[in-house]
Order: sequence, then C-alpha cells, then structure tokens
Amino acid sequence: MSDLCTNNALMRPAALVLENRPIARDTFLLRLDAAEIARRILPGQFVMVRASEEGADDPLLGRPFALYDVQRKGTGEPVSFDVVYLVIGRGTAALSRKRPGDRLDVWGPLGNGFGPSPGPGHALFVAGGVGQTPFLALGREWLGATTYGEGESPKGSPVESATLLYGVRSADLLAGVADFERAGIRVEVATDDGSAGRAGFVTQLLAERLQAGQRPAKIVACGPPLMLAAVAGLARDHGVACDVSLENHMACGFGACFSCVTPILQDDGRPDLRRVCVEGPVFPADRVDWSRPSH
Ligand code: FES
Repeated sequence: MSDLCTNNALMRPAALVLENRPIARDTFLLRLDAAEIARRILPGQFVMVRASEEGADDPLLGRPFALYDVQRKGTGEPVSFDVVYLVIGRGTAALSRKRPGDRLDVWGPLGNGFGPSPGPGHALFVAGGVGQTPFLALGREWLGATTYGEGESPKGSPVESATLLYGVRSADLLAGVADFERAGIRVEVATDDGSAGRAGFVTQLLAERLQAGQRPAKIVACGPPLMLAAVAGLARDHGVACDVSLENHMACGFGACFSCVTPILQDDGRPDLRRVCVEGPVFPADRVDWSRPSH
C-alpha cells in the first residue's frame, strides 16, 4: 500500500511488524517495516502508532513513540526503524500482543527533533523512565557515526564524547544499555531502590558532575516532568545549554487536536500555549514554563 501524505508526515497504513520483543520488564522493542519513514526520520522526532485490536474501535487513538534506531541495507539505505515502549495502559498492552507479520497504522515522522550537534566537547543526555529512547540515535549522530534523515537539517560538528545518565526505579527496567555502550555512549545508572548503579535520582548524578566543574557542550533531557524541571534548574544554575524533550499526552500527533499544548515562554517572557507535537517535542529548557503543570 502506498504512503499517504498528511501535514508533511507520511501515513503508512498497515506497516508490517518485523519484531516486537521484550527488552526489559514491561518494555518492548518494536521494529516496523516502513522504509519511507526510516529514510526521513531524525533523532528526537517521533511516530504515532495505532494498535487497535482486529475488528475493534478501541483504543481509537495512536500513541507517540520516539525514534530509537534505523536499520539499513548493506548499501546504507534505511529499510526499517525501531521504537521502544513501556506497557502502561490498554493501548500499549494491545501493542505488546502484536507479532511479526501483524500490521499497524503508523504516521510520521512528527515533531522537530534535536537539531545539530553542539560539538566539539561533550554531550550529556539525562533520561528518566523510558526517556532514554531518543538518545541512541542522537548519540550516534552527534558522535558523527551515523546520519539520519536523508538531506534534512544541518548536522553540526561532532561531539568528542557522549554520556547517558539513566535513572529508573529498579534494575529490571533498564532497557538498551548494551545498545548505548556499543554506540560509544558511556552509561551511568541510578536506581530508586539501589538495585543497579547509584541509589537515588538521576539528577543527583548530574548535579555532582556540574558541581565538580564539568561543563558539557549541551545537556539534553527526556523523562518525567519533575525530573526535567530539576535538570533545567541545574543547567540554568551552571550556565550550560539545555534542551528537553517533552512527553505530553498526544491524540493526533500532527497539530489538529490541541491535546498536547504546553506553556512556552515567548521573547517578552510571557507564556503562550504551543503544540508539543508540532513545535516540539524538543524545546530549550529555559523556554518551558516549569511553574505550570500541563507537561
Ligand atoms: Fe494533536 Fe498535538 S497531538 S495537536
């Protein structure tokens, strides 16, 4: 079936599931046969995936999932892509039951992505929960190992090194650590219960680095709102550039429903509601109005 265009995004009705396998507790890697999206998608962009059960209307809505990685043929041509998701409700539970050979509605690439590498220097990624997902492709690109999004956007100078600070509740939720390490991204872990890495919040790992005088070229964070607000505050206090990828609820993913709006500070300092799916999900941390609870 051919791809349809909607608001610059490709609708891929009935994309074939190539893999859908658990990689940690309640966490799955989904590989989709959608070469057009794989060719165009950038780190930090996302796709909407709808996993309705056969013959049922529920769940009607898609779910947004960030790009994890792209697979290529021997010639380098992108052929498929992966997302990683946590099972947290009926939609993702239905998705976890899909098997290779099943088909899903997929539309994307959506959103703005992370932008060019801030190199040279060091990139610091901070992730909470399943927020590590967008940083594998981003690390590969910023380290200069891989280019995503055919002909899209300036790429910048590569960074010399990249580290992922990765916080989860317990060790069994750690997903994809070996993938990051294979990509040359250092990983430091914090767990709430101390079952892996440092016991405590991932923001403590960040605070210690900054207090020790380390100055990354950029901090990029993805995770729960309280974690993002804490990261934004640390970055501001230490004068380090910081972007955050927001995980707002999204119903359509392409700007039509306004379910994803969040207050973003304008040049005059006043907040204005912006659609995270179109103008985000990546925003400069100092533009997000952290005093308001809608993200
Ligand atoms: Fe519909 Fe953003 S999800 S406008």
